[in-house]
Amino acid sequence: MRAGSGALGSTHLNIATAATTPVYRRARLTDLDRVSSIENERFGAHSYPYFALRQLFDLHGASWLVVEVEGRLLGHVLVALAPQRRAWLLSLAVAADSCGRGYGTALVEQALRLCGSLDVGSVLITVRPTNQSAMNIYKRAGFEWAAHDERYFGEGEPRDVLECRLGR
Ligand SMILES: CC(C)(COP(=O)(O)OP(=O)(O)OC[C@H]1O[C@@H](n2cnc3c(N)ncnc32)[C@H](O)[C@@H]1OP(=O)(O)O)[C@@H](O)C(=O)NCCC(=O)NCCS
Repeated sequence: MRAGSGALGSTHLNIATAATTPVYRRARLTDLDRVSSIENERFGAHSYPYFALRQLFDLHGASWLVVEVEGRLLGHVLVALAPQRRAWLLSLAVAADSCGRGYGTALVEQALRLCGSLDVGSVLITVRPTNQSAMNIYKRAGFEWAAHDERYFGEGEPRDVLECRLGR
């Protein structure tokens, strides 16, 4: 099942459907421990420390999305609203044992939908140029290359900046 589809078609009979259907919802304060462990697992030394996640929650909790399946949080996308109808996707991560099932794609789609509903005109994200998996997701979702900074996060940490323009 595509992770973004929500449920199987009505012609299918699958008693596991309701339990395994991914739920996309706003993050809660009680999610931060799990978000923190996914961040550590996926970003290592580049993950947000817990104290930063806590502060980001105070700033951007209302636009922070998570995906959960059978009550287990599997991934998150942190959307930060910015001036001039802009938004940044500050983090996107899916637990390693749950990758390749469409959750990352669906989180980005949900984030863009949320931004559209909030009248955001431009959504931005930084991505390591060699991160092909993430790059594919963003390109398919409508992001285009906007800039490159060889030292975006300091020496040896180049990033591309991608932008997705949302229509009015
Ligand atoms: C990047 C990341 C978020 C992707 O999450 P994901 O849940 O694996 O993403 P998806 O499943 O939607 O897509 C990944 C691949 O699985 C494929 N896929 C999508 N739905 C699928 C499904 N239902 N079944 C099997 N494969 C599927 C996609 O085609 C994609 O393949 P491609 O990159 O070769 O085109 C995840 O790998 C991650 O957390 N990486 C580490 C952190 C990171 O790099 N974050 C981005 C920073 S900019």
